[in-house]
Amino acid sequence: MQVAGRTVVITGAASGLGKASAKRLAAQGARVALLDRDKEGLDALACELGADAAGVAVDVREPASVEAAIGAVLQRFGRIDVCLNAAGVATPGMVTDGAAPLPLETFRSVIEINLIGLFDVMRHCATSMAKNDPIDGERGVIINVSSGAWSQGQRGQAAYAASKAGIVGLTLPAARDLARYGVRVLAIAPGLFETSMARGLSEKVRAGLEQMILHPRRLGDPEEFAALVQHIVENQYFNATVISLDAGVRMG
Ligand SMILES: NC(=O)c1ccc[n+]([C@@H]2O[C@H](COP(=O)([O-])OP(=O)(O)OC[C@H]3O[C@@H](n4cnc5c(N)ncnc54)[C@H](O)[C@@H]3O)[C@@H](O)[C@H]2O)c1
Repeated sequence: MQVAGRTVVITGAASGLGKASAKRLAAQGARVALLDRDKEGLDALACELGADAAGVAVDVREPASVEAAIGAVLQRFGRIDVCLNAAGVATPGMVTDGAAPLPLETFRSVIEINLIGLFDVMRHCATSMAKNDPIDGERGVIINVSSGAWSQGQRGQAAYAASKAGIVGLTLPAARDLARYGVRVLAIAPGLFETSMARGLSEKVRAGLEQMILHPRRLGDPEEFAALVQHIVENQYFNATVISLDAGVRMG
């Protein structure tokens, strides 16, 4: 479907990949519902994007918060055509530090945000999309942000990699469930992008990671991610798959 005039729900919209996608889709004429737990960041972006953007504070870990946020989006825009699930955390932690095991709460929290929270947003958006009048024969597109870590997780990434592999795992069955409504489901598995997540890395770690990127040997620009999001929305023949966007990086 064409982006102009469509209503797009974006989680993680206050920063990084979600923010870049919100800006690009808004520039193409989409109405953008910006969801994030960072209220200040949301307000700043909503203000920058103008009347066709709305910031809605949400904590994707909290089912009541998600339900209320999707309700607020529907009240404001009347329908949801595209859902981009980019909210996520990369809290590191080794399985054990040799003296004590990783606190279960650390593992659980990453799964709750990255996988269960994502599914929660997705199920509400899918329910709304199923009621849409079709546009060009389809009722919606759902794009979930996984990570190259789903198959190449590094040390300290057991929780993160497990959450991202879960997103890959649900892509095909969710696409099967939603095909009858004309809703497509895809995942993007980014490599290393220039966002706050990457800015948290030390120079040494960053340089080491860059050595593993094939070509071009640099971190990705969030705008390159946003361009793929737009293409997925517009290209009806993309469905039920995981797209790596990573300049060929192979991490271990
Ligand atoms: N940057 C990378 O190199 C990279 C690589 C692979 C995958 N990813 C994935 O891309 C997505 C976006 O990452 P980014 O790099 O833009 O990170 P980011 O930290 O810049 O943005 C993530 C956003 O998610 C929001 N968020 C976190 N927890 C939330 C919660 N419980 N409820 C609502 N919002 C919440 C944060 O407030 C933040 O605005 C994430 O899912 C991340 O795992 C990023």
